Amino acid sequence: MENKESTQFGEKSVTPEEKTTLVRGVFDSVADNYDIMNDLMSGGLHRIWKDRLVRMIRPRPRTKCLDVAGGTGDIAFRLRKKAGPSADITVFDLNQNMLSVGRDRAIDKGWINDFDWITGDAADLPFPDNHFDLYTIAFGLRNVTRIDTALVEAFRVLKPGGRFYCLEFSHVRQPLLAKAYDLYSFSALPKMGEIVAKDRESYQYLAESIRKFPRQEELARRLGEAGFKNSTFTNFSAGICAVHYGLKS
Ligand SMILES: C[S@@+](CC[C@H](N)C(=O)[O-])C[C@H]1O[C@@H](n2cnc3c(N)ncnc32)[C@H](O)[C@@H]1O
Repeated sequence: MENKESTQFGEKSVTPEEKTTLVRGVFDSVADNYDIMNDLMSGGLHRIWKDRLVRMIRPRPRTKCLDVAGGTGDIAFRLRKKAGPSADITVFDLNQNMLSVGRDRAIDKGWINDFDWITGDAADLPFPDNHFDLYTIAFGLRNVTRIDTALVEAFRVLKPGGRFYCLEFSHVRQPLLAKAYDLYSFSALPKMGEIVAKDRESYQYLAESIRKFPRQEELARRLGEAGFKNSTFTNFSAGICAVHYGLKS
């Protein structure tokens, strides 16, 4: 269970309130470079992972979707493309700067009024019970201070029959690849952050936060504790990231 008094911000122990403020600071600072850094850091792989997630989801027309930690809109745009104009999509994020970049990107695509953009904390959702058909969170849960509370909130706002999908960096299964990946995360990533985004610390946090995130089996168990049925996970790229699924029955 989560310790209510102290939590992790990367390798540092901080209070939950401090973590939320620090995470907001990280994304305030990376918002303008977020999309280009994503491509650079993952060699474009994040696009493949996100496409694969949305293929797994197969959103239908008129689906009522909540994309939490939706940032600059990558998942929302894919859901919109797949489900069509009748989909009802809310993009929700702690950070107003990330949402502003997302809204501008949507306008550039000609999607002026296709999304609701709402600011707030995943652990305290401003939506009624049994409201959404689909809850997605991509590369977001790792940053949330109170993961278990966020999972309970996800369960609450989903309708019976509603589906939960989390795409997140996870834990690599093959020891050799795990070593190489660690080296890349703790050396190359912060260096790239320093050179391209002039922000070494935020990218150091990224590497540390990945290491601290629960392993696949543990997160699946915590989904079950939040009330989800059939909780399963699928590894992408040998576990560099994983999709966790849960059903509100
Ligand atoms: C790495 S970005 C992911 C953005 C987008 N989902 C994507 O896949 O490109 C993580 C996002 O999580 C948001 N975030 C962090 N903590 C959050 C919280 N407690 N509640 C809602 N959003 C949060 C950040 O502001 C940031 O926009």
